[in-house]
Amino acid sequence: MGLQIELGDITTYRVDAIVNAANRTLLGGGGVDGAIHRAAGQKLLEECKTLGGCETGEAKITGGYRLPAKYVIHTPGPIWYGGSRGEAEKLRSSYANSLRLAEEAGCKTVAFPSISTGVFHYPQDEAAGIAVHTILTFLKTAKSVQRVIMVCFDRKTLAAYERALHAAQASS
Ligand code: APR
Repeated sequence: MGLQIELGDITTYRVDAIVNAANRTLLGGGGVDGAIHRAAGQKLLEECKTLGGCETGEAKITGGYRLPAKYVIHTPGPIWYGGSRGEAEKLRSSYANSLRLAEEAGCKTVAFPSISTGVFHYPQDEAAGIAVHTILTFLKTAKSVQRVIMVCFDRKTLAAYERALHAAQASS
């Protein structure tokens, strides 16, 4: 089981939870955030409106509504400002807090998009390294979560995450 890297559209994944690369308002946006809200329908936005936003690196969980996934875990990743504003730690927190909420909700399977590497311009290889390391470390002690899928929307992203996974496996 463990961590798998796939090419796909996260809104189609029938897993216990999909993670949404949100913004701090949690009121939707473009990219994967827009795709998830479109697929989930209006009730997702209605629940998000009750949450009062979310800080960067934090995470909040909602129902999945019309999505095949049971839950959506919303996390605003960091905007890339060049790397000297704690972006790496905030990105790590986004992954770690999302996994913690999935564990607390009793999820067995969780799917992630590549957080912050779109509109937020986080460099892909650095982001992939942080994501893979955080997920693999979590899986060593996870009780409920057994499978994590990194769902890449394009081949460039897929290649970056495959490189990061191979590097992590080579060094373990
Ligand atoms: N499935 C999986 N991945 C997707 C999908 C999808 N349906 N659509 C887009 N992606 C990918 C992008 O190609 C990118 O690799 O998700 C990754 C993250 O990109 P963004 O969605 O732009 O997210 P991010 O960089 O974290 O920026 C977040 O963008 O959409 C707004 O409201 C959002 O303000 C927030 C900001």
